[in-house]
Amino acid sequence: MARDHSLEQQALKVLHQNSHLSFYQDTLQRHILPSRHYYTHQWFWDSCMHAMGLAYYDMKWAQDEIASLFHGQWDNGFIGHIIFNTSDTTYYPGIDVWGTKQLSPRNVYTSGIIQPPLLAISMNHMDLLSSKNDNFIDTYLPKLMLYHTYLKTVRDKEDSGLLTIIHPWESGTDNSPRWDSILSRINVANIPERVKKDVDQNRKDTKNGKISHRPQRNDYYRYLYLVDMYKNLKWNSDAILEKTPFAIKDTLVNSMWAKANQALSDMLTRRNRLPEAQLFANWARETRSAMRKSWNNKKHLYALYDVSYGKHQAIDTDTVSNFMPLYAHIPTPEHLSALLKKLTDPTQYGSVNPVPSVPLTSPSFEPTRYWRGPTWPITNLFIIEGLKTYTKNAVCQTLAKKLLRKTEAMIEKKGFYEYYHPFASKKESGVGFGDFSWSAAIYLYLKKRYTIQDDQTDSVRNSHQAFKKSQSS
Ligand code: DGY
Repeated sequence: MARDHSLEQQALKVLHQNSHLSFYQDTLQRHILPSRHYYTHQWFWDSCMHAMGLAYYDMKWAQDEIASLFHGQWDNGFIGHIIFNTSDTTYYPGIDVWGTKQLSPRNVYTSGIIQPPLLAISMNHMDLLSSKNDNFIDTYLPKLMLYHTYLKTVRDKEDSGLLTIIHPWESGTDNSPRWDSILSRINVANIPERVKKDVDQNRKDTKNGKISHRPQRNDYYRYLYLVDMYKNLKWNSDAILEKTPFAIKDTLVNSMWAKANQALSDMLTRRNRLPEAQLFANWARETRSAMRKSWNNKKHLYALYDVSYGKHQAIDTDTVSNFMPLYAHIPTPEHLSALLKKLTDPTQYGSVNPVPSVPLTSPSFEPTRYWRGPTWPITNLFIIEGLKTYTKNAVCQTLAKKLLRKTEAMIEKKGFYEYYHPFASKKESGVGFGDFSWSAAIYLYLKKRYTIQDDQTDSVRNSHQAFKKSQSS
């Protein structure tokens, strides 16, 4: 039977329509906006994901997406979570709020914070699909190594194996309940009036989108308070780490960090650059081992650490980030069976549209509010791929396949939304902004990488079974 390509075509259309052209050093360059309705610049982890989907359809397009991120790289190796289009001034907080112009490369302005470090994972995926004479990866490997070295030396000074994040936005999961106890320390009454006024006048997400889908106002004040503080500290990372109330060793970010170092090591191994490959493999190993030690045996979760003001305090809020270590093959057999239980429990993460960002019975659960309940394709992808790495575990394989089918069905039914209501029966299933690029890219990636292959395996298996049946009858 011929395969139906129509949704793949729609996904490619979303990516095409969200493409943005600009000049960089007199050459035309392009990248994809996460959403034309609100996210009107380039976002770091979104772009890494766009490239992973596009790599199957148009490698040059995927390469342009990654090259555009590197155009925003600072001299010290840092890459910001937003690379701004200078022609667009609608998004808030814009370039001037960040105060990073002097640090950004000439004519390319960026934010001053990071996002989950998926870059090497994305590039490794592209490397495996590229033709032999394509030198894109070789060209950008030095910049990628510089980026990893920046993260290691600046965000893991104490060599713990775990990176420190300095803003909830760095985790990509802005209003996750795992930040609540830390953010509540920032008393809104003490936030300068000018910061609050700026937010009240300029915040756009609640104007362009629905208020009930977005972070609460007090949290937004706190996000901007942190940005303002770092701007006043001139983005000096030592000063920031000393003064910030928000310094966290995060589970999601560090799972990506472990996976990314392994990916970088694999690319170097493929090029026979063995001593460098060894260095990054060691970093990956250190992170995996530090994360295993963070396991809370009573609550069955990987703790985060609050390391602000010299502290080292475990935070054990249960959210979808607890499954991210699967992606870097961190869980031991004992952790794995505890995680599988939670994942399938209908009172926790086993919703109709799995996997919700917060357990269904948690007091923090809100089904449409951003990272406080909705299901996100990106975290589903990490869980699916993580489960698949447990190749000898039949439960993991079956669950990965089920989750893959459900994720695709959710997108097929509702369209390419930013995130989804965890219950399919609810009318409002697609939430956040529509025509969202990474949901389109993730759909393409899952389809090409797994579904087509699984379908073929299934049809081979079915015909094999039919043959066996006909033989025995
Ligand atoms: C936003 O603007 O909502 C972002 O998450 C910050 O990058």
